[in-house]
Amino acid sequence: MKHKPVEGFSKMSKQGKIEWLVNEYLNASEKAVQTLTQYWNEDTELQRLHDEFSENTLSNFYMPLGFAPNFLIDGELLCLPMAIEESSVVAAASKSAKFWLDKGGFKTKILSKIKLGHVHFMFEGDAEKLNHFYLETVLAKLYKDTAQITKNMQSRGGGILNIKLVDKTSEIQNYYQIHAEFDTVDSMGANFINSCLEQFAQTLKREVENSDEFTNDEKDSLQIVMCILSNYTPDCLVRAEVGCPIEMLADKDVSAEEFVEKFARAVRIAEVEPYRATTHNKGIMNGVDAVVIATGNDFRAVEACAHAFASKDGRYTSLTHCEVKDGEFRFWLDLPISVGTVGGLTSLHPLVKIALEILGNPNSDRLMEITAVAGLAQNFAAIRSLVTTGIQKGHMKMHLLNILNQLEATDEEKEYFVTYFKDKTVSHHSVISEFCRIRGINSVEELKKK
Ligand code: MEV
Repeated sequence: MKHKPVEGFSKMSKQGKIEWLVNEYLNASEKAVQTLTQYWNEDTELQRLHDEFSENTLSNFYMPLGFAPNFLIDGELLCLPMAIEESSVVAAASKSAKFWLDKGGFKTKILSKIKLGHVHFMFEGDAEKLNHFYLETVLAKLYKDTAQITKNMQSRGGGILNIKLVDKTSEIQNYYQIHAEFDTVDSMGANFINSCLEQFAQTLKREVENSDEFTNDEKDSLQIVMCILSNYTPDCLVRAEVGCPIEMLADKDVSAEEFVEKFARAVRIAEVEPYRATTHNKGIMNGVDAVVIATGNDFRAVEACAHAFASKDGRYTSLTHCEVKDGEFRFWLDLPISVGTVGGLTSLHPLVKIALEILGNPNSDRLMEITAVAGLAQNFAAIRSLVTTGIQKGHMKMHLLNILNQLEATDEEKEYFVTYFKDKTVSHHSVISEFCRIRGINSVEELKKK
């Protein structure tokens, strides 16, 4: 083994952890220590806040926070905060927003809002008896025993919506669930749901143990496997859509009819072809994740749910759909998304607070709507480019700037390169050769030596 394990890492000081890390993995490089520490914030309180979001924090990892203006959403003009490292995403969102601004903008609708969680358990015994006992004895106690946990949520208009016993024994022998539905109002609700579920498990176990309806073997067979919310929330669903008469969609070099035909065909391909659907949906998530991160929500949960939803009918398909009927074009996204605007990072991270303030301090319904719009806008921009100019035209300008930044090109040089590559294909090789030519050097290695 090249490296040694470490004891008590989490207990070491920040300095101690960096020393250990750099000695063990980075050849004791002073430059590495400098790089890690140069991202610390001078404001020690702010730094402490960030350190405490997670464990063993040694530095900060910057992510660009961009803003996409001109989003007309249900008649409200918004500027969307987007935290994303991928070039072209914010530009594409802004372009889409502008495109739809004079065509009625984006319309949204919450289709349903139910969050889910399960107690997964095993029981070896009579299923009907268990079901009867659940309905007669357990169900009411599940509500009663969680009354303390649900009190606050209820006062905010939420709580437990429904609890049922599900027999899963046809899939795994002896496997059952308590399937619970929740309204967590403006919070994402993970802690609330998991606390309720853990109480449900205790109540179930206690009631079965205290009952004389079950044999000792049946009682012993009851095993709680786990209590956890589900990130798959197909009924926490929002729709974002755009639409206009077809003739409004004429593009630079394409007639409105041709554009609509090409666009609708591209969406249809994503609906039937999983290879394309994956990339198509990835583009949607470019917009969705960027808003989810900027507003302090859990993008892994949002991603997992979106892709599970895209496969709900047994084949992975597009999350957006398009309809061309009676001279009208309609394009929409149905997105299952669980986000919160209270709790978690939303009230802790100073940039998240600002992002939410810019969005008018939305409730979670409104944030679902705004996030879905970001996904739809992104998808519209991507398909529009793909079926007309091709995606590389816009991407390559950003690629060019990235290469020039790596080369530490001056602003004048950057300007020169943008003009130079207007009618040429950008490649790493072609940028480097032209860079060397104008600097009068043979290779970029020469720069490093200077
Ligand atoms: C790139 O991040 C996203 C796209 O590939 C999406 C798409 O192909 O629809 C451009």
